[in-house]
Amino acid sequence: MPVAIFISGHGSNLQILIDQQHQLGIEIKVVLSNCAQVFGLMRAKKENIPTIVLDHEAFTSRETYGLALKEMILPFCIDYIVLAGFMRILSADFVRHYAGKIINIHPSLLPQYKGLNTHQRVLENQEAYHGATVHFVTEKLDDGANIIQAVLAVQPTDTVSTLANRIQMIEHSIYPMALSWLSEKRLKYENNQVWLDYQLLPQSGWVIS
Ligand code: GRF
Repeated sequence: MPVAIFISGHGSNLQILIDQQHQLGIEIKVVLSNCAQVFGLMRAKKENIPTIVLDHEAFTSRETYGLALKEMILPFCIDYIVLAGFMRILSADFVRHYAGKIINIHPSLLPQYKGLNTHQRVLENQEAYHGATVHFVTEKLDDGANIIQAVLAVQPTDTVSTLANRIQMIEHSIYPMALSWLSEKRLKYENNQVWLDYQLLPQSGWVIS
């Protein structure tokens, strides 16, 4: 299953997908970043995966950036776009073009804690549980139907940094799992609902705790 991976940073999720791409049945055709100087790009280059840098600051609007993104990605003939720490909101036109073909990983139990600084907000609100979610992408931020959610109990000793580490560890198991389901064609996404092996998933997605 040919995929493009979009990043903006360190790329630890990208690395896991690079390492497991053969077992997962995916082929990473291209890695795109909106920032030039990020470690994730080096990870791709080391594996001779084509890379593209498309700086959003060179565009006057989200829409023109989206058009340029589409033009860059089309030649790679990919089946899915995998957002792995891509810190830009995609244009409505881009999302519509790849409707049902874009997935994202987010460090919270969506629909709770959309947006940034999730660990900080979870601690401030003294939540008992936190987690990570893989979901389909729609035009609204962190809003599409969930595929998988991994839950962890917040410990009294947790800080932003311990939570960040623990959440990244669970991300590194749920993102490959979601991609293997997609490559094995076990997932169906329709009317913003997700089926796994013909079973409708709950709003939380498949839950691992
Ligand atoms: C992850 O925590 C992901 O949930 C969020 O961005 C982070 C990316 O981390 N969307 P990395 O670049 O894959 O290390």
